[in-house]
Amino acid sequence: MSLVAPRGPLSVSSPQLRLADPHFWGRPASERNAVFEALRQAGPPVFVPGPHGGGRGHYALVRHADVVKAARTPQVFLSGPGVTTPEPARWVRTVFGDSMVNLDDPEHAALRRIVSRAFTPRLITRLEDGIRETAARVTTDAARAGSGDFVATVAGRLPYEVICSMMGIPERQRARILHLVDQASAHAGVHRSLRARVRVPGRGLRALARMHLIIAALGRERRRSPREDLISALVTADVDGRSLTYRQLGSFFSLLLVAGVETTRNALAHGLHLLTEHPEQRALMLSDLDSHLDGAVEEMVRHSTPIIQFRRTLACEFELGGRLMAAGDKVALYFLAANRDPSVFTDPDAFDITRSPNPHVGFGGGGPHFCLGTHLARQEMRALFRELLTRLPQIRSTGSPRLVPSSFDNRVASLPFRC
Ligand code: HEM
Repeated sequence: MSLVAPRGPLSVSSPQLRLADPHFWGRPASERNAVFEALRQAGPPVFVPGPHGGGRGHYALVRHADVVKAARTPQVFLSGPGVTTPEPARWVRTVFGDSMVNLDDPEHAALRRIVSRAFTPRLITRLEDGIRETAARVTTDAARAGSGDFVATVAGRLPYEVICSMMGIPERQRARILHLVDQASAHAGVHRSLRARVRVPGRGLRALARMHLIIAALGRERRRSPREDLISALVTADVDGRSLTYRQLGSFFSLLLVAGVETTRNALAHGLHLLTEHPEQRALMLSDLDSHLDGAVEEMVRHSTPIIQFRRTLACEFELGGRLMAAGDKVALYFLAANRDPSVFTDPDAFDITRSPNPHVGFGGGGPHFCLGTHLARQEMRALFRELLTRLPQIRSTGSPRLVPSSFDNRVASLPFRC
């Protein structure tokens, strides 16, 4: 077992160099999975050089056990310096306020206590009717269209409508905000071209600023006359004498739109494609939807892993998986790789809706930052696939998804479908 980080010369074909290459993230999934398998087998976590993990490089955690350990040891694996790639600039954080993903305790715990009141399974269950109605509406539209782009017609609409209804965003502002979300989230991760990496952030930041202004205005209005919605709850909440400031409200809302809309949209699109590519799994689902829906949703999240990785920064020296890392080192938790770890998942590349147990880390590896929207995402996915498969059992993708190359999320730009 080596406790020394190999930061010396690397062979050109070494898997860690492949991870550092922006082109890698546009390669087919099978090729990327093979590289992750090589990294899992390599032994201790490897060091990936280059700026893509933030700073001078990062250690890649690719084994299930290592990802879970890091996620559950937050006092060592800090989120504070920023979990996304590229790291948010300091002035951005000063101007826009800190998103809870980028905070550590006690600030994180205080914020999460306030917002988590809206995300308990009990409250999400109460949202069920609205989610079902929205799923039925988009399914009707898909049936009317007969064919088209599944992301625009179906997958992108459900999560967005659900979040907007939950927050209490007026109908007339939804199209505008959706456009801003797309612009604000387009800069995360390692993209293919330098042009994209240089140009998109400016546009993304302007979009973020506009979104914050809209939400702050709504927050002020709801503080004056509260309603039965999340914005009202957040600006009037009194948890340990605290409620959200308008700046925190803006940050939380942008986080929800990016973390809750994009992720679920991508999971739904990948889900339809997986069912198309695995007709025997679709047939199994159709044979008994009630029994297989939950398992299918978990397996879609594991197999597609909508968020590829989040980063942490070491608070102190720490040994993990046989590698000694130093204080200040960056570490990326590759949820994507952990979800294909053969020591946890038999035949990990197979799409098997009966997989049980299925301890995937698609919603995170546990710990304080575990996805706040897990219950909501599951509800939405179940509701949509129930509607689609009941009313349009022939619905399928008619081509491959057009993926946006990124080291951050498994984003589907479009997916042709027919029903
Ligand atoms: C299939 C859909 C989704 C996936 C795959 C997903 C995945 C994730 C992952 C991997 C994390 C980071 C966990 C960690 O660092 O340990 C996360 C955090 C988060 N997610 Fe999700 N998510 C989904 C849907 C949602 C939805 C619907 C919402 C809300 C409406 C949401 C809100 C959040 C928030 C607020 C955080 C940050 C929590 C914190 O830092 O305390 N997510 N999600």
